[in-house]
Amino acid sequence: MNQAQKEAYLREYSILKNEGKPFFPYAVAKDGAMACIVMVVIIFLSLLFGAELGPKADPTTTTYVPRPDWYFFFLFEVLRVMRNVPKFTPMATIGVPTICMILLFLLPFYDRSPERRIERRPIALAAGITTIAAMAYLTYSGAHTGSPNSVELKPPANLSASQLQTWHAGANVVGESGCLACHVIGENGNNGPGPVLTHIANTVPAAQIASTLRNPTPPMPSFKDLPADKFNDLVYFLSTLQ
Ligand code: HEC
Repeated sequence: MNQAQKEAYLREYSILKNEGKPFFPYAVAKDGAMACIVMVVIIFLSLLFGAELGPKADPTTTTYVPRPDWYFFFLFEVLRVMRNVPKFTPMATIGVPTICMILLFLLPFYDRSPERRIERRPIALAAGITTIAAMAYLTYSGAHTGSPNSVELKPPANLSASQLQTWHAGANVVGESGCLACHVIGENGNNGPGPVLTHIANTVPAAQIASTLRNPTPPMPSFKDLPADKFNDLVYFLSTLQ
């Protein structure tokens, strides 16, 4: 800001200050009144509609697939993209958001431009649009992908179109059912307590896989209550892991 701009600004400021009303009590009274109205509306709505309670939490479940609320989908997506590189995970979840927050806090110190017109602030405009676009894109893809437990694996090359469909359906069942909490498939999942399943079809025939899924040895939960089509897709998928 140069000297002339500074003086013009101070002049304008003193004129506005003489015309205006003091913050206390005028603005405080206005804000207070609005806060009371919002409170009354919330109380009224909660009396009228009540709050929804989900099903009771089950602390013993091993197959729960966590999903964040929609306003965290962008962070969730960043985490999902990074999950195969564990050493980047802290960077994605703590590093990047913290750096962005610090940049935002420091904005008045490094952006000293007196311009307020948006067309004279190309860098700020570009940065703003990029941020909004990136968050919109990440939110969209976070909302449309499977869970962080989904299986990312290339299907075998020799499948027919309908086999390929079953294969993908089975891979989805693996994601939904939480198998990766205990098993590794390819580069997905946790190593243990269950054995690695990447090449399970080499040693265990499909019929035996199906019977393990129905009557497993604890701690593996039984999947005999899956709908028949999902169960068959799952067994088919596992029987292709060679
Ligand atoms: C709570 C952990 C857990 C979950 C969840 C789980 N498993 Fe297991 N699974 C195990 C353990 C432990 C074993 C080993 C049991 C044994 O040796 O008898 C096992 C064994 C198996 C076997 C037999 C492996 C072999 O070499 O004979 C298959 C196949 C299998 N699991 C598939 C699955 C699938 C598919 C899912 C998801 C639908 C799943 N598991 C979910 C823990 C789990």
